[in-house]
Amino acid sequence: MTAHYQVHGDVAVITLDNPPVNGLGLSTRQGIAHGMEQALADAAVTSIVITGAGKAFSGGADIREFGSPKAMQEPNLNSVITLLEKSTKPVVAAIHTVAMGGGLELALGCHYRVVAPGTSIALPEVKLGLLPGAGGTQRLPRALGVEPALNMIVSGESIKAEMLAMLPGQKLFDKVAASPASLADEALAFARSVAATRPLPLVRDLPCKHPLGDAYFQFVRNMVGAVSKNYPAPLQCVDAVEAAATSRFEAGMAKEREIFINLMWTSESRALRHLFLGERAASKIPDVPSDTPLRAINSVAIIGAGTMGGGIAMNFMNAGVPVKMLEMKQEALDRGLATIRGNYEAQVKKGKLKQAKYDERMALLSTTLSYDDLSGTDLVIEAVFEEIGVKEAVFKELDRVMKPGAILASNTSTLDLNKIASFTKRPQDVVGLHFFSPANVMKLLEVVRGEKTAKDVMATVMAVAKKIRKTAVVSGVCDGFIGNRMIEQYGRQGGFLLDEGCTPEQVDKAMEKFGMAMGPFRMGDLAGNDIGWAIRKRRATERANMKYSKTADLLCEKGRFGQKTGAGWYDYKPGKRDAIPNAEVVKMIEDYRASQGITPRKISDEEIVQRLVFALVNEGAHILEEGIANKASDIDICYIFGYGFPPHRGGPMLYADEMGLFNVVQAMHRFAQNPRDDAEFWKPAPLLAKLAAEGKTFN
Ligand code: NAI
Repeated sequence: MTAHYQVHGDVAVITLDNPPVNGLGLSTRQGIAHGMEQALADAAVTSIVITGAGKAFSGGADIREFGSPKAMQEPNLNSVITLLEKSTKPVVAAIHTVAMGGGLELALGCHYRVVAPGTSIALPEVKLGLLPGAGGTQRLPRALGVEPALNMIVSGESIKAEMLAMLPGQKLFDKVAASPASLADEALAFARSVAATRPLPLVRDLPCKHPLGDAYFQFVRNMVGAVSKNYPAPLQCVDAVEAAATSRFEAGMAKEREIFINLMWTSESRALRHLFLGERAASKIPDVPSDTPLRAINSVAIIGAGTMGGGIAMNFMNAGVPVKMLEMKQEALDRGLATIRGNYEAQVKKGKLKQAKYDERMALLSTTLSYDDLSGTDLVIEAVFEEIGVKEAVFKELDRVMKPGAILASNTSTLDLNKIASFTKRPQDVVGLHFFSPANVMKLLEVVRGEKTAKDVMATVMAVAKKIRKTAVVSGVCDGFIGNRMIEQYGRQGGFLLDEGCTPEQVDKAMEKFGMAMGPFRMGDLAGNDIGWAIRKRRATERANMKYSKTADLLCEKGRFGQKTGAGWYDYKPGKRDAIPNAEVVKMIEDYRASQGITPRKISDEEIVQRLVFALVNEGAHILEEGIANKASDIDICYIFGYGFPPHRGGPMLYADEMGLFNVVQAMHRFAQNPRDDAEFWKPAPLLAKLAAEGKTFN
């Protein structure tokens, strides 16, 4: 059992001990129930303290039990809380560090709560598309007041205990300990002081009302509804709290249960839970044990102070790691430095960064023109021009100067990492770290594992990613890695949609309605249409057999590269990012369509969405089959964190799973009949065809 029982004189102490955060898994729940039984049976015990070992009181449900029958097995959390409430001896929660979700609900079932200062308190279930399902929506409003409780439940955000303790009339905490160190003793003393108190106070018996009544809940619904468009859970949280404020406790509990079960079945909650687990799973590499010894990374060098180099440097400076930037010319260094300064100064101006912090960060940055200055750094990341000859020169220099055991990384987005590694005599130390632009903002990091990359290098860079707060996904070596390889097919399909009758605006609107942060053409304008143009030219011979719409090339021939030239698929006013449709571009597309002898047809938004998403899914299936991605959820994480795929859809692979792979394949067969879509494009990847035939899913 992962909860322990000890007796300190007349006080029994039940300690949750289920690392890392004392998740309330079955064996922990059993441990609490068992401890209560012992305490109630022991005549020498007059009061009971519940606390948590290590780094938390309790972080809530044990995520390892998510979706398994164990999660519901008795004693479930509600039963454990009932045991506490029914206890004939006072139960005191001694809360420290973290009390979240089920952990807070457990504490709310105790008669008293003593808390250490600095403790983070939250009911974060809404972030998984759910609501607290063990009385949180009924007890927290009673303990804290309707308004603050509703804020916490709807936002899921955590708040420090001492701030909550200052709310007038709050009954959440009976005492704030002087310090975390004195919590245990103070809780014991408190337990002794209430040992004879009867009747024992219960949160469920507290009154719960909002002075404005219905009007208040109407206001809140308007506000919450406006910001939670794609998600049902926040509004349902309001319903549950309203039940707390307007009905008897048992009726409110029944309402909470009903809503919880309904939310469990929504596709939004499934998507959010998939992402939650997927993000954690992405950091685990099947053949790299979690106890692999890591290389120490205490300093970083960046080669190239351009668009990417500067952003990458900022990530490390933000994390307190010293950075040395190298360029060929002083002017380039000065330019890079000025951009970094400018970015930070904008944050200072907006009040997002304190001047002192800014000074601290800039002090971590140094520059050089000489490779010899880099020899002592632990990790070097190359972000120079995307040309294999330039990469070769750089990696030969790095091989010459870097100390043994240093990690040599490339930010290349399309080049062969194995080839880059072969320029050195230490390919085992070479890895790809593919950041996304702007590198100081985008959460995604593709970690590219070369044929010879050492396991400890993989383990180390995954830890580095965590340190700089990136979500890392491992990719094998192939053209475009996971994300850009899939986006190429998405872009090709976008072109076919224009050829067949769509305008860029129609396609973008359909995708944005689906939930994409940006449709494909606005995205092209943001990234620069010339980048794709250059890649297509470079690949022209190797992809001679691949069909493309020529519209994107025609656009580039007009110099319409996107936002940076003020004109792309759309027009842009100086300094503005609003996309204004351009009649000339529409005419250009129409002329091209006519030149190909295509009669335009009206294409539904549903068809647009399916064709673009299934283009991603089919390439994703190839990527899985080839072992470029380890698991489907890695692809989903990549698309959510790097490409603006809507989180409530859970990523392209989950979207396909939810639709049913059989249906996806059927739709692809239908699309193969379209005039511009060669049947080759819509040939289901073997893995997709197989799973569809077997009635299985990717995830
Ligand atoms: P950039 O052109 O903005 O910056 C490249 C910098 O490298 C320039 O400042 C240049 O002076 C410097 N440089 C060139 N050769 C050098 C050498 N031999 N030694 C030292 N410095 C040298 O290019 P950007 O966009 O930053 O791209 C850099 C790398 O990052 C490329 O491999 C690119 O494919 C990759 N990448 C770019 C993304 C983007 O959105 N721009 C996204 C992800 C990866």
